[in-house]
Amino acid sequence: MVPIIDEFSRIAKDYLQQINDRSVFPHSEDLEKMKLLDVPLQKQPIDPVKVIQELHEFGSKATVASAGSRYFGFVIGGALPASLGANLVAGVWDQNAGIEAASPISSLLETICQKWLVTLLNLPRETVVGFVTGATMANFTCLAAARHALLQKMGWNVEKDGLFQAPSIKIVVGEEVHASVLKVLGMLGLGRNNVVKIPVDSQGRMKSDLIREYSEPVIICAQAGNVNTGAFDPIDDICEIASRMNAWVHIDGAFGLWANASPQYKHLCKGIHKANSWATDAHKWLNVPYDSGIAFVRDKRHLVSAMSMDAAYLISGTKREPYHYVPELSRRARGIEIWAALRSLGKKGLAQLIERNCFQAKLLAEKLSAAGYQILNDVVLNQILVSFGDSDTTKRVIQKVQEDGTCWCGGTEWQEKTAMRISVSSWRTTEEDIEKSANAIIKIAGKENPFTD
Ligand SMILES: Cc1ncc(COP(=O)(O)O)c(C=O)c1O
Repeated sequence: MVPIIDEFSRIAKDYLQQINDRSVFPHSEDLEKMKLLDVPLQKQPIDPVKVIQELHEFGSKATVASAGSRYFGFVIGGALPASLGANLVAGVWDQNAGIEAASPISSLLETICQKWLVTLLNLPRETVVGFVTGATMANFTCLAAARHALLQKMGWNVEKDGLFQAPSIKIVVGEEVHASVLKVLGMLGLGRNNVVKIPVDSQGRMKSDLIREYSEPVIICAQAGNVNTGAFDPIDDICEIASRMNAWVHIDGAFGLWANASPQYKHLCKGIHKANSWATDAHKWLNVPYDSGIAFVRDKRHLVSAMSMDAAYLISGTKREPYHYVPELSRRARGIEIWAALRSLGKKGLAQLIERNCFQAKLLAEKLSAAGYQILNDVVLNQILVSFGDSDTTKRVIQKVQEDGTCWCGGTEWQEKTAMRISVSSWRTTEEDIEKSANAIIKIAGKENPFTD
């Protein structure tokens, strides 16, 4: 085993030492070269050291440097040193996290993370946690618990009897609900189109005064962190309305939920503890390696009823049995990296990470604005939307910025405008990176838009 570990260490050092000196998006010749991995599968085994050398030689330069400090696409965090190290330890341990008996250590770390996360994010003390692949599956897990709770109240056991004859549930979302929530509603048999969409304001926040009161069971899906603007729905008001009709409030906080761990930003989450379930990603702002999402449900009974299964060979003890909290049985031990990230950051380090990225987003927005470009959103968190003129010009600037490789930013169509989307979510990003990226974007935009100063 030692040669493979030595070679892996060499490759890891080589990769990480260069990550900030290369184009953030791979060059076309590197994308060509990666195709050399596409060989006919040989008959005989080959040396594992050679296998990872091939990956490095033909694959490493073809990666997107999203683990580096100037990747601002989608909402993609880096991997903290402790979480990366723990990911490697997790690989060596190779634990099946699904069953307590298969990994007491993974199970313990998940239990510790549950306690730490619930405290850090100021959620109700009784809240339980499931460790899943990402916010899409966290939304799924939470909404499965919601479906169970509401139908059980109507005397219907959805897990046993399915949905065909079940009482109907009204689902309320904002116009700018994340697409993954709609996908999840489809997967749960509730229907992507079977939703009441509440109009939103100029930042994409649900206009809560337009939520009607219904007599049938209701799930309201609110958002902590709009994927374009970073804006938060008025969660406190929504919870107030929900309490009048006994509705279940689910919060999609894929990245925004982490704001509740920051004294400076937690005001955005006002009232969030009144909800019934919350979904977030650890692979976004907690900066653990992919894949890692977290489902939080206030009432353990509803989550466990939705997720548990019985099989004689799965001996359930009295401890927290991980497979009762998530859709999967066998799975990797994600709690290890989450534990390591939280242990290394502490409460203060996590708050500083959130606050630093938010400050950097404001700084970048100010620089682009000072250069004459229009910031379309209120930069309340880590997301920036910027227009470089008309739609075609903005699209050209986005493409040229991506080709230039100093940084990487994506594009979006938002409230009928074309915009560059910038998300600052990595522990690695420094003010120097912001300066360098702003200069590159402004230089490119100046060439594409010669009439701007
Ligand atoms: C608000 C929101 N919800 C859900 C998701 C889906 O997250 P994941 O890709 O981790 O499943 C995202 C991803 O960006 C998001 O921003």
